[in-house]
Amino acid sequence: MTLDRRRFVLGSLAAGAAAACGSRRAPPPAARSGPAPAQPAAPPARQTILVLGGTGFLGPHVVEAALARGHTVTLFNRGKTRPHLFPNVEKLQGDRDGKLDALKGRTWDAVVDTSAYVPRITKLSAELLAPSVKQYVNISTISVYAKRDTPGADETAPLATLPDPASEDVKAHYGALKALCEQAAEAAMPGRVANLRPGLIIGPGDPTGRFTHWPWRMLEGGEVLCPGDGGTPTQYVDGRDLGAWIVKVVEDNTVGVFNALGPERKIAMREVLEACNAAAGNKATLTWVDAAFLEQHEVAAWSELPMWFDATGEMAGFGTMSNARAVAAGLGFRPILDTARDTLAWLPSVHEDKRRQISSTGISREKEAKVLAAWKARG
Ligand SMILES: NC(=O)c1ccc[n+]([C@@H]2O[C@H](COP(=O)([O-])OP(=O)(O)OC[C@H]3O[C@@H](n4cnc5c(N)ncnc54)[C@H](OP(=O)(O)O)[C@@H]3O)[C@@H](O)[C@H]2O)c1
Repeated sequence: MTLDRRRFVLGSLAAGAAAACGSRRAPPPAARSGPAPAQPAAPPARQTILVLGGTGFLGPHVVEAALARGHTVTLFNRGKTRPHLFPNVEKLQGDRDGKLDALKGRTWDAVVDTSAYVPRITKLSAELLAPSVKQYVNISTISVYAKRDTPGADETAPLATLPDPASEDVKAHYGALKALCEQAAEAAMPGRVANLRPGLIIGPGDPTGRFTHWPWRMLEGGEVLCPGDGGTPTQYVDGRDLGAWIVKVVEDNTVGVFNALGPERKIAMREVLEACNAAAGNKATLTWVDAAFLEQHEVAAWSELPMWFDATGEMAGFGTMSNARAVAAGLGFRPILDTARDTLAWLPSVHEDKRRQISSTGISREKEAKVLAAWKARG
């Protein structure tokens, strides 16, 4: 399908479319006897929220959710990434790495840090803000964990460590550095930090193309190479669900450490990819190719076939991480079909260059066709 044809189809779709690990919340109201009278939910107390970042992928979902709940938001960033966003929101300009003057002398109820990658830099903002905010909500990642080999692992699983304590190489040591960012925030504001660890964040606005690869590929139709036997579990979180939950974490003054990924039940690749196909109009035929064959043909898990690893051996825990703590603290999940539909509906609004980049994520069509042909020709 040509880019123009895709744009047309997409356009039509658019038109149709705790200290360590404990967690605490404010105590519930005193227990009463007998059924409580039905009452409309009270509006949330208005909060003032500072977002460090706010104009990339997750940040805007946090800002939108906060504004929708009536909160007052301030953004702090360098003014480089999409500065046109949120014209009616207060913007403070500076640089996390040492130029924090714009934050001095101000107070907020909470800070949401979506742009922490280096512990030295997290320490700067957390120490500066400790006297002027009640709560620090630090967006971390499940990449903080040292291993993926244990099904059902929870927040107590061992963390990745830096081979060289002085390293700030985020590309090489993303997970270990994010783990240290969590600790830097907690050290500056003991007992007042929520360290939220999302898995793959997906849905409208995702610049990486990882989830988007699938509905986009289904839209093209034909035979689609799908990984494994369809039964591999996977996990993710729609950026909008995560943004809404981050705001709830602020409203509830929740602190502690939480894996932020879902859904609440186990979901396998087959259900995810069938939903992507349904969202794109069921044009594709899904051919499931077993993991050993994919390895033999040098098809890379995750990068060429996004959202999937062969969940065995070192990756035996893939797609099964515990999210019980976050679900108990109010993290909710929309159906994957909605995420797939909304992602396709969002794509036409993406600049053509960016859309080309997003659509080139995953296995090339040529390689896909070659591997499918070999799969059929196997003895
Ligand atoms: N994507 C995933 O699947 C995934 C999974 C797990 C966890 N996470 C985590 O989720 C978070 C999401 O990141 P996001 O990029 O979507 O957040 P975002 O807040 O939407 O975008 C990043 C923001 O940081 C600002 N920024 C960058 N460098 C800065 C600096 N030196 N000083 C001040 N501001 C700076 C950028 O604005 P300027 O450029 O204008 O400064 C931009 O507003 C990250 O912490 C990531 O580790 C992501």
